[in-house]
Amino acid sequence: EKGGHDYFMLKEIEEQPTAVADTLLGHFVIDEKGGRIVLDEQRLADQELREFDKVFVVACGSSYHSGLLAKYAIEHWTRVPVEVELASEFRYRDPVLDRSTLVVAISQSGETADTLEAVRHAKEQKARVLAICNTNGAQIPRESDAVIYTRTGPEIGVASTKAFLAQVAANYLVGLALAQARGTKYPDEVAREFAELESMPKLISRVLETAPQVRAIARELAHVPTVLFLGRHVGYPVALEGALKLKELAYLHAEGFAAGELKHGPIALIEQGLPVIIVMPSPKGRAVLHSKLLSNIREIQARGARTIVIAEEGDDTVRPFADDLIEIPAAPTLYQPLLSTVPLQIFAAEVAQALGYDVDKPRNLAKSVTVE
Ligand code: F6R
Repeated sequence: EKGGHDYFMLKEIEEQPTAVADTLLGHFVIDEKGGRIVLDEQRLADQELREFDKVFVVACGSSYHSGLLAKYAIEHWTRVPVEVELASEFRYRDPVLDRSTLVVAISQSGETADTLEAVRHAKEQKARVLAICNTNGAQIPRESDAVIYTRTGPEIGVASTKAFLAQVAANYLVGLALAQARGTKYPDEVAREFAELESMPKLISRVLETAPQVRAIARELAHVPTVLFLGRHVGYPVALEGALKLKELAYLHAEGFAAGELKHGPIALIEQGLPVIIVMPSPKGRAVLHSKLLSNIREIQARGARTIVIAEEGDDTVRPFADDLIEIPAAPTLYQPLLSTVPLQIFAAEVAQALGYDVDKPRNLAKSVTVE
């Protein structure tokens, strides 16, 4: 049942290409105009999708990190402002919500108490709620106006892996559906973005081939006290997710930072031998992102940190500054997180195993957090 693995989580990491492909299945329907995005249970009319003037994304933990990525895609494609909030903070600060607000609630289990309460609060304020959920018929989709199911099958490992990648794909579907309804993207552009998403599972499979290299690095680092993660733009939520995985599985102190914040504090932590994992943006994306991160790596390497760099294949500019270089296939900037997250999951699982921990059942954690 664990597909030849000792742990469900390792099997679930390998299932990610299928999880993303299945989540996309049926969401693009060919019609007389070439094709269009369709959501699962579309109880949000196109008219409503056109009239939303802001989007809130609410979630917890890894699901929240997937929500941070939704912001980049939705704002870029639709020009609608998006705020991403921890569900546990959302309703306590009296957020400004009304009929023209779309609240996207992301939850693998669909039962997380904080996210459910955020949904209830949003509905009381007359906002419309779209759930992204991995569990059919769970409470959050039941109380929402519409739902997109991530179709990964049950996720058994407590640490979210395949559900996270599938959530990212589902979030991007929301962005494309909004862009389509609002006309901020032409139908052929929407079709092209969807095709890009559809090409990701094949690339995720290729990232899985880095596992032996990533495991070797993880075993070397298993006994360090701290690991830092750095990213910029969409690489920032990836850094947060990498740090969360390491905390929850390997019980290590791990922090994810926006690379630009380095100089505002975290650089004080850098010392000889400290492992820093850096998520490099694609060199074919915005040049400024790439060059800024490059200079961050240079700075921390000069201070003696051990730099473990996740970069696009063929990005030779990083080589001189990378003590370890993990190469992932080229992908447009917005889609890179579907690739760059994968080595971080493998890394955390391997450190945990090297330390003798049960990666499916980390201490003190429950798969579904039904109390606030
Ligand atoms: C991390 C993890 C948790 C969940 C969080 C939200 O690996 O699994 O952080 O992401 O508890 O759970 P759901 O998505 O079920 O609402």
